[in-house]
Amino acid sequence: MIRVTVNGVTSEHEVEARLLLADFLRHSLGLTGTHVGCEQGVCGACTVLLNGDSVRACLCFAVQADGGEIETVESLGTVDDLHPLQKAFQEHHALQCGFCTPGMLMTGIDLLRKYPLATDAEIREGLSGNLCRCTGYEHLVQAIRSAVEARNES
Ligand code: FES
Ligand code: FES
Repeated sequence: MIRVTVNGVTSEHEVEARLLLADFLRHSLGLTGTHVGCEQGVCGACTVLLNGDSVRACLCFAVQADGGEIETVESLGTVDDLHPLQKAFQEHHALQCGFCTPGMLMTGIDLLRKYPLATDAEIREGLSGNLCRCTGYEHLVQAIRSAVEARNES
């Protein structure tokens, strides 16, 4: 039995020891916003926050999140009320097919919370663990830069 708080909701679940955190979120909780690409820790599509740190949900077992707090892309805004970072992605065309987007957003949230991101080089380094097969990197950097400016003004 594990007890987790996911996007502010605490619940308990019987899980197999081998169940991946990504599969737990998607299949047990129905939070399919977390995408699974490479399943080997390379692409970053499955990135979620566990106790405030970005993690690869395809490399964690659900049991490793026992007692923890998880934030997924569903914790951000809604279609009618986008999170500022989602709005920045929309305004700067920072997505194409959207497959990498949940992971990019959650990595972006982690970066915005923890780092000054004073230069584009810092943003690029922060995003370097997330791959976009549509290669929209320039727009991603612009979106994060705009979110950093909004953060710094608030
Ligand atoms: S699916 Fe987890 S890093 Fe690619
Ligand atoms: S927008 Fe298509 S993979 Fe990034």
